[in-house]
Amino acid sequence: MKFKGTSIISLRDFDRESIMHILDSTRKIDEDRTAYADRLAGKVLATLFYEASTRTRLSFESAMLRLGGKVMGFADPKGTSAQKGESLADSIRIVESYSDVIVLRHSIEGAARMAAEISKAPIINGGDGANQHPSQTFLDLYTILKAHKRLERLKVGFMGDLKYGRTVHSLAYALSMFKTRMFFISPPLLPMPADHLEELGEMGVEFSEHRNLDEVKRDLDILYVTRIQRERFGDDLDYERVKEGYFISEKSLEGCKPNMKILHPLPRVDELSTDVDSSKHALYFEQAASGIPVRMALLCLVMGAMK
Ligand code: NCD
Repeated sequence: MKFKGTSIISLRDFDRESIMHILDSTRKIDEDRTAYADRLAGKVLATLFYEASTRTRLSFESAMLRLGGKVMGFADPKGTSAQKGESLADSIRIVESYSDVIVLRHSIEGAARMAAEISKAPIINGGDGANQHPSQTFLDLYTILKAHKRLERLKVGFMGDLKYGRTVHSLAYALSMFKTRMFFISPPLLPMPADHLEELGEMGVEFSEHRNLDEVKRDLDILYVTRIQRERFGDDLDYERVKEGYFISEKSLEGCKPNMKILHPLPRVDELSTDVDSSKHALYFEQAASGIPVRMALLCLVMGAMK
């Protein structure tokens, strides 16, 4: 796969080889970050965030600054022309002439794909609604690879809001290329969507659905926990019904394999107790820290500053 000038929109655009190339590029940067300190000197990154973010936006900005590039953008569309009624398409046509690469987060599924069709500057999807969050997936994969020294044939549990969690949708698709056994643990109202399950089935993935962690915890190498995506609920009452009952504490992890690792894209809300933070299973803060080398690699690759 040629990366230079290519937008990063969905895991469906990647094969195993191109995923491994990104992870290998990340490792090279991670081993010697200072060697890349001026790789993107003179280049400008625009971060257009129409939805809330802490990690994705700040780690892309930090990654660009660490590569010697410059950053501009907004963290909230209030105060931009979106408020006056400007379309996303028009905003992209403007920003592409102000910058060399654009990270876009938007609530509409397909927004990043549409932007990429318009823009001459590569677009990196920072999350489009409940659809995809590819840069998160690369940092999830990088974290798993570092912890288990392999991606193949792991047993991975996904727990929480599997219906609206875009990080789950992206990661499950990626892991389907690595012979992963998947366990989907969710409240009845928030299962993995049927079309995703069908797609995984077609790719030969072995999976099962569960109502609680106890049914599967002895098997897992990775437990990927997500918060209930409250902002995607049309009806707040539904949120109240599902938010209880999916809670991980140190106690609920008794019986897990000693080297089972917990990942969480963060932010956590009610679903993951702080008493897990000091356990041998917790890997989510290291996971978030991997956002820097992973996003440095993505920026270098799409800008042609790394082969
Ligand atoms: C995730 C997202 O935005 O999808 N956050 C992130 O980028 N780390 C997960 C979430 O918001 O729950």
